[in-house]
Amino acid sequence: MAVGRFYLSCLMLGSLGLLCILFTIYWMRYWHNGFAWNVSDLRFNWHPVLMVTGMVVLYGAASLVYRVPQSWVGPKLPWKALHAALHLLAFILTVVGLVAVFSAHNKKHISNLYSLHSWVGITTVFLFACQWFLGFTIFLLPWASPWQRSLLKPIHVFFGAFILSLAIASVVSGINEKLFFSLTNVTKPYSSLPSEAVFANTTGMLVVIFGLLVLYILLASSWKRPEPGILTNRQPLLHDGE
Ligand code: HEM
Repeated sequence: MAVGRFYLSCLMLGSLGLLCILFTIYWMRYWHNGFAWNVSDLRFNWHPVLMVTGMVVLYGAASLVYRVPQSWVGPKLPWKALHAALHLLAFILTVVGLVAVFSAHNKKHISNLYSLHSWVGITTVFLFACQWFLGFTIFLLPWASPWQRSLLKPIHVFFGAFILSLAIASVVSGINEKLFFSLTNVTKPYSSLPSEAVFANTTGMLVVIFGLLVLYILLASSWKRPEPGILTNRQPLLHDGE
């Protein structure tokens, strides 16, 4: 039952993640003239899309690798490598998303890192970089002792969920800020809930729901990789045809 529910949740999660990305792309295309790297306003538009794709959707998928029941049996190394590789891809997209906004700001002589959104955002990315580097050196490279790994594991798990929560806060504050900047028309202000606001608010809600679902799957104990001694009791879950 638990395995069946897990795959159903993954299907919902995948569709929801795709929807988050498509909604962000549509918002930038329909209301903000689409994408181009050589025009600073259009270069900015890559920022929300790459941040939602990298820091939320790919990050979420990468975090759930050890919840896949097939990862509970057999060698752990391929799953570790997949976990690290997906997170690396998420990090690369995130960095390109940051380059887009910093360079667009610099080109228009707008100050950097003045808003609450940018403070929360840069903290999120900094923690993500530390988390990836530490995770890679301690869990993937062979030199750390089992004692060091078991010491870092709960910290790694805590920060994994914490960084995702911060990423969701960054997205919500970023969407809000963009709407405040864009919806300046006095006859159709933000408070009159024009169609762009409805659409962007919906996008934000989808991201929040996606993030909560990832956190739920991460924290639900029946979907966690069993510790070595308990593994044999849970193995039937893999073969009961659900
Ligand atoms: C995890 C997701 C996100 C992170 C980590 C993040 C991070 C950042 C950072 C660090 C800046 C500062 C750039 C500078 O000072 O030059 C920034 C700027 C900005 N971001 Fe995001 N962002 C994220 C998502 C979004 C989203 C979804 C939007 C929605 C449109 C958005 C809208 C903005 C806007 C309008 C700015 C320029 C104003 C400002 O500096 O606050 N961001 N973002």
